[in-house]
Amino acid sequence: MEHLACFFLFLTLKLTSFTTANSGQDQFIYNNGFSGSNLILSGTAMVTPNGILELTNGTNTYNASYALYPTPWQFRKVPFGAVQPFSVIFVLNMVPGNMCANTMAFMIFPSKDLEYGQSSSKLAINLVSCQDKRFLENNENDISISINNSFSRPPETHPAGFYDDKNGIFNDLPLVGGKSVQIWVDYDGDATKIKVTIAPLKLTKPLRPMLSTIVNLSTILDEGVSYIGFSSGANRVGTLNYILGWSFGMNSPALTIDITKLPKLPRFGPKVHSKTLKIILPIVITTVILLMGAAVTALVWRRMRYAELYEDWEVEFGPYRFSYKYLFDATEGFRNENILGVGGFGKVYRGVLPNSKLEVAIKKVSHESKQGIKEFIAEIISIGRIRHRNVVQLLGYCRRKGELLLVYDHMPNGSLDKYLHYKDDKSTLDWGQRFHIIRGVASGLLYLHEKWEKVVIHRDIKASNVLLDAEMNGHLGDFGLARLYEHGNDPQTTHVAGTFGYIAPEMARAGKASPLTDVYAFGIFVLEVTCGRRPINNYTHDSPTILVDWVVEHWQNGSLTSTLDVRLQGDHNADEVNLVLKLGLLCANPICSRRPGMRQVMQYLDNEMPLPELMPTNLSYSMLGYLQNDGFDQYKSVPSTVCSNNLTSSLTSGR
Ligand SMILES: Nc1ncnc2c1ncn2[C@@H]1O[C@H](COP(=O)(O)OP(=O)(O)O)[C@@H](O)[C@H]1O
Ligand SMILES: *[C@@H]1O[C@H](CO)[C@@H](O)[C@H](O)[C@H]1NC(C)=O
Ligand SMILES: *[C@@H]1O[C@H](CO)[C@@H](O)[C@H](O)[C@H]1NC(C)=O
Ligand SMILES: *[C@@H]1O[C@H](CO)[C@@H](O)[C@H](O)[C@H]1NC(C)=O
Ligand SMILES: *[C@@H]1O[C@H](CO)[C@@H](O)[C@H](O)[C@H]1NC(C)=O
Repeated sequence: MEHLACFFLFLTLKLTSFTTANSGQDQFIYNNGFSGSNLILSGTAMVTPNGILELTNGTNTYNASYALYPTPWQFRKVPFGAVQPFSVIFVLNMVPGNMCANTMAFMIFPSKDLEYGQSSSKLAINLVSCQDKRFLENNENDISISINNSFSRPPETHPAGFYDDKNGIFNDLPLVGGKSVQIWVDYDGDATKIKVTIAPLKLTKPLRPMLSTIVNLSTILDEGVSYIGFSSGANRVGTLNYILGWSFGMNSPALTIDITKLPKLPRFGPKVHSKTLKIILPIVITTVILLMGAAVTALVWRRMRYAELYEDWEVEFGPYRFSYKYLFDATEGFRNENILGVGGFGKVYRGVLPNSKLEVAIKKVSHESKQGIKEFIAEIISIGRIRHRNVVQLLGYCRRKGELLLVYDHMPNGSLDKYLHYKDDKSTLDWGQRFHIIRGVASGLLYLHEKWEKVVIHRDIKASNVLLDAEMNGHLGDFGLARLYEHGNDPQTTHVAGTFGYIAPEMARAGKASPLTDVYAFGIFVLEVTCGRRPINNYTHDSPTILVDWVVEHWQNGSLTSTLDVRLQGDHNADEVNLVLKLGLLCANPICSRRPGMRQVMQYLDNEMPLPELMPTNLSYSMLGYLQNDGFDQYKSVPSTVCSNNLTSSLTSGR
């Protein structure tokens, strides 16, 4: 209130002589700004380039600022008659400064000479707002009517606000704070009543005025002319008061202001705006950027995480195709806790398929070359159609960049080698189980070689590729995978697929796999299972370096059965052990043409056919043996075509 008081105290009355007045003209409106309006301005009042009437420009002043309509008004129709009705509409925007002190007024002046201390208003509609959180006690937001620039008679004062047309509830309306407001002042000459109405800019004029009071302007206004306009109080704190639009009507309603046509407030000047820009805007922008970044990252991450490779040719394998996300979920994100084992091709994870709840083993095979992958998958899928009780069933696959995932039936008892080469006796298998497994593997291999629609060469028969189900049945696993290494490689540098110790000599020499190279590996496998020793032992002193040589030696010395796993001594069927050991040697013959086929092997195992008598002349077991003496010649005499006769170099071939 201090500033308002100063402002009014500085104003004194000055009478002016009669001049030409607006007797004919009775209306004006500034709806598109005040540019070119010839308003009488004083103090810091100015019209901004975009047409806003800026009463205070933020510079500290000690005098009030004014903006007056350029021509005077004759408020009486006839001399000594009553003051005519009139109405005023204006749009105001008050921007707070450093302190709580926004004051401005619509006024009727008796003179246009508004120099310091020389003018005083006859009627003022004062708007005072101070809404600073720091000065809660002094907060005010009022509109008042004062007469004769005097405080002797208390002015009519009312908190700024409006009555809701629908429910009649009074809503406070802050004058300061960035939002523009519209104000209507109506004087009813007959009732000598002044009504003040105020509303947010977007609202139409409320029906009920905020303030309504009896003032007989006929007793207040002089007989002479009057000027109308706005004034802003002395200002030391950088407040800004803007008038955006103004409409007046003498003896007629003021024209309605079209708010869409009003000039736009400057975005730079106001302190509150800059405060908002400085603090809130960066926070908002940073938050938005961070959120967007996070969303994009999440999307990209999800894309990359579940990305797959899918090509047109895979359409036909659709039923075997799993989505990566499905396998990801099945293995709880390929958790390390779910690793079943690590093989030559990569990690094997245990998983539970989300839909069927089927337990599976998922092999992650990494492969660099894209070349040949199509043929490889075709073969894998083709093999996947094999159903045999001694073959691990392939359920499907998934492909990602540089990675192939193969989904197999889960074998709860894991791989056979663990049981054979464990040191403690408890976890080992008894003879009956071992014989059963040997028979099972033979049956599975026979199926691959001869009973299925194509000849399938396993290429990597060994104890670690025999998996055991809950009933300890042996299942051949991993077949065909060895091919992955061959595909897309230069034939000159192709390394031999298979596992050291199980590779047939002709395979090592020519790199050609055949069913008989499988038979060789099967022979080594049989010896491994029976003797409980690895095919090649590099570092142990109590084991023979090359198992097959060691067994041959014992056979030559007539002590064949002493090669039986020591853990099985006293618990075995001597006939079966004898048969199996001899069968192993027969199959592991370095000369491929002397090995039996799997059909014969099966017949020997089932005692449907007697095993041929082992003779030194028809056996040439050890590499050592044939390199040293006749074995070498015998080996040389075998045409290299014999073993691969009628067999293609492909994994599978028509029969
Ligand atoms: N279908 C399966 N069910 C259960 N365990 C499996 C299965 N396949 C592989 N494993 C486990 O993962 C290990 C590695 O498998 P694999 O890659 O086949 O070994 P390798 O390459 O040495 O033959 C196996 O020793 C076995 O314990
Ligand atoms: C405000 O107006 C005064 C007087 O017209 C002037 O001296 C001052 O430079 C103006 N300030 C701004 C910020 O425009
Ligand atoms: C304020 O009014 C005084 C007295 O008329 C005058 O001397 C002074 O220049 C005015 N100040 C401004 C900023 O207009
Ligand atoms: C207003 O004042 C004038 C002049 O004194 C008087 O003639 C008129 O009757 C008054 N009007 C009312 C409604 O009191
Ligand atoms: C206002 O001032 C005029 C003279 O200018 C005087 O005639 C009138 O009585 C005053 N009215 C009030 C309410 O002070």
